[in-house]
Amino acid sequence: MSTIETIISGVGSYLPDNVVTNDDLAKKVDTSDEWIKSRSGIGQRHFAADEQATSDLAYEASWKALEQAGLKPHDIGLIIVATVTPDRTFPSTAVYVQQKLGVPPGIAFDVSAACAGFMYAMNIAHNFISTGQIKHALIIGAEKLSCFLDWEDRSTCVLFGDGAGAMVLSGEGPRTSRRPRGVLATYLSSDGRLADHLYADGGPSTTGTVGQVRMNGKEVFRNAVQEISGAVFEVTELAKVSRHEIDWFVPHQANIRIIESCAKKLELDSNKVIVTIDKHANTSSASIPLALDEGIRDGRIKRGELLVFAALGGGLAWGSALVRY
Ligand code: UT7
Repeated sequence: MSTIETIISGVGSYLPDNVVTNDDLAKKVDTSDEWIKSRSGIGQRHFAADEQATSDLAYEASWKALEQAGLKPHDIGLIIVATVTPDRTFPSTAVYVQQKLGVPPGIAFDVSAACAGFMYAMNIAHNFISTGQIKHALIIGAEKLSCFLDWEDRSTCVLFGDGAGAMVLSGEGPRTSRRPRGVLATYLSSDGRLADHLYADGGPSTTGTVGQVRMNGKEVFRNAVQEISGAVFEVTELAKVSRHEIDWFVPHQANIRIIESCAKKLELDSNKVIVTIDKHANTSSASIPLALDEGIRDGRIKRGELLVFAALGGGLAWGSALVRY
């Protein structure tokens, strides 16, 4: 077992200025504030400007995470961007973040695991760090989902928003304390049999277009409750921690009813759950770091507390991470 601990040394986030309320949407889509709030918990979302690319959102969040970590761009050896809305088909959005931040040559790539993308990025970065290959990694969930919403499909277009969240993970060690810190366990899974429940109906090798979001909401909802709570059980078992020790559940923000059902299954009080869906809507891979950043900056989440992150999205793909912050 590695003696290097993977510590969260900084977190940052960014939301574009343009706030779009449910009432704003109801002017162009056959919907209502009452339906959106009661079915999903969403009150508003942020949309990026036309000229803002995903790497621009990621860049803003990254600076804040670096600042909190007390690090400079030249300290970073690995950049992973989790996104389904890359700036270009290739190269990766991560290299544009590297370019914009002025991070010197090192490892930079994207991961495509939709709403579970940040969990995949955390797991990969943790492996790089705990094996001693990288000292400081910058991982980012960043999405400009507004660019592929179908405004004729009211069952999906009201659910999503744009934003970015970033985290600096740093290797520290060898471990001195008997109580381990940092990433204690991670868990990932995907099931391609469920791919048609949530996808974008385009791609470079099929239609030659970006496509638009398509979702079988009920099936995704059912799987989300089962697999998100299951993924939390997995990491607590792996780390041999009782889930009653969890201080904060920071879940993917897709639907308040999914979050509440998971919290109930996990027997976690609602005052231990970070909820941002009312203000941010579903920002896919960005939602967990955005929620984490809010919880840290408003003083709720404190150093030494036990945090659990979990998400599910297109793939279907899901994952979780247990961290002593
Ligand atoms: O981040 C990736 C993971 N994503 C998720 O986890 C999302 C999972 N799914 C969900 O959150 C929910 O399934 C939704 C919020 C998408 C939908 O909630 P629902 O309770 O499953 O609603 P529904 O799709 O069964 O629709 C109920 C009714 C339908 O009308 P009828 O057929 O009962 O007359 C819809 O046509 O609501 C209607 N409806 C709307 N009405 C007003 C659907 N969308 C809207 C809308 N405004 N925007």
